[in-house]
Amino acid sequence: MKPAGLPVEPKDAEHVKLFKPYKSGGITFHNRVGVSPMCMYAAEDGMMNDFHVMHYGSLALKGPGLIIMEASGVVPEGRITPQCAGLWKDEQIAPLKRVVDMIKSQGSIPGIQIGHAGRKASCSPPFKGDYVETKEAGGWPNDTVAPSEIPFADHYPKPHAMTKEEIKKTVQAFADAAVRADKAGIEVLEIHAAHGYLISTFYSAASNKRTDEYGGSFENRIRFLLETIEAIRAVWPRSKSLWVRISCSDYTNPDSLGESPEGWDIYQSVKLAKELKKLGVDVIDCSSGGIINNVKYPVEKMYQVKFAEKIKREAGIDTAAVGMIVEGEDAEDILQKGKADFILVAREFLRNSAFVLDAAQSLNVDITWPQQYSWAVKKARRRNTEKVTDKPAE
Ligand SMILES: Cc1cc2nc3c(=O)[nH]c(=O)nc-3n(C[C@H](O)[C@H](O)[C@H](O)COP(=O)(O)O)c2cc1C
Repeated sequence: MKPAGLPVEPKDAEHVKLFKPYKSGGITFHNRVGVSPMCMYAAEDGMMNDFHVMHYGSLALKGPGLIIMEASGVVPEGRITPQCAGLWKDEQIAPLKRVVDMIKSQGSIPGIQIGHAGRKASCSPPFKGDYVETKEAGGWPNDTVAPSEIPFADHYPKPHAMTKEEIKKTVQAFADAAVRADKAGIEVLEIHAAHGYLISTFYSAASNKRTDEYGGSFENRIRFLLETIEAIRAVWPRSKSLWVRISCSDYTNPDSLGESPEGWDIYQSVKLAKELKKLGVDVIDCSSGGIINNVKYPVEKMYQVKFAEKIKREAGIDTAAVGMIVEGEDAEDILQKGKADFILVAREFLRNSAFVLDAAQSLNVDITWPQQYSWAVKKARRRNTEKVTDKPAE
């Protein structure tokens, strides 16, 4: 069975990049649009369940080339909320594999993001409110960790500054989680090094005030991430693909393309991307923000694409663009102009799981639909050009 989201006549669609296959590491995606990682706060003891099979399955049905599943904790205290998914123990492999198998059965590539929430762990799911989860409610407010003892915000707990031994153990936990992801059949592993979670608090000088070899200079601040990638690269197969999501700016400088020696900026991100490339990372997923509370920055249409473009051009590594990309034409324009190699979409997929099918329509590309839904395709394809009524299904 052909997956949804493939050009019906590849020759006719040759000029459209969004629907051209994309190769990264040893993986070929059937198109260049994927689901960005989104926490669902629906796991129990870090384990995925029927909700995840249904949620990711419904997205896979409608043709994305890739689905990166939600941030999953490499240790229990590394979860953002008590309801987040995890990969810290072998029992979590089988429930994840159920979801992986569902995604693969629809022809999409299964990915997962692994991470450690650091000083932003033990929170409540955002739809419940912005507060730190108590011990009684399954939280661990007294056990959050960070490079330095600086809370994220006034209402967050003061984190414990990690010892070198704890750093070493956490690096190993990332590698162990990568092995479990591999065993579950995951094909794209993304390391969460963005949004103010543990790794990003190490690389930004605004949240890292250490005086040992993990703080101070740029080389020291990125050491934790590089050691994590080295450990993962040793166990993650070359036949698969390895992505890293970073915050390209922490907006300590409100000029998002300006320098910020006291924090983190796009210039340091380019330097970091060069190092990650040397270590065998395939794609930098270019996000931003989340590291410093209450900084102001414009969140507007495609506001992070400039980061993906700069890193791609200056570090010579493939990039994924993400952030307020909601139209097929815009996604195509980013690829055509060489600003990124892959498009990730988050909230628009929650609003419209048929985003890929709609993007194809807006780009006038005839793509495959899920075979079982083919009764509906004719009207959808023509709805912009002429009035047709569905024939009753025979
Ligand atoms: C409900 C929700 C959960 C999210 N969870 C994650 C996550 O687990 N990891 C991550 O890196 N980003 C997460 N994000 C951020 C998205 O991946 C994406 O970068 C952001 O929403 C911007 O893309 P969009 O404008 O297409 O929504 C989440 C976003 C939403 C709305």
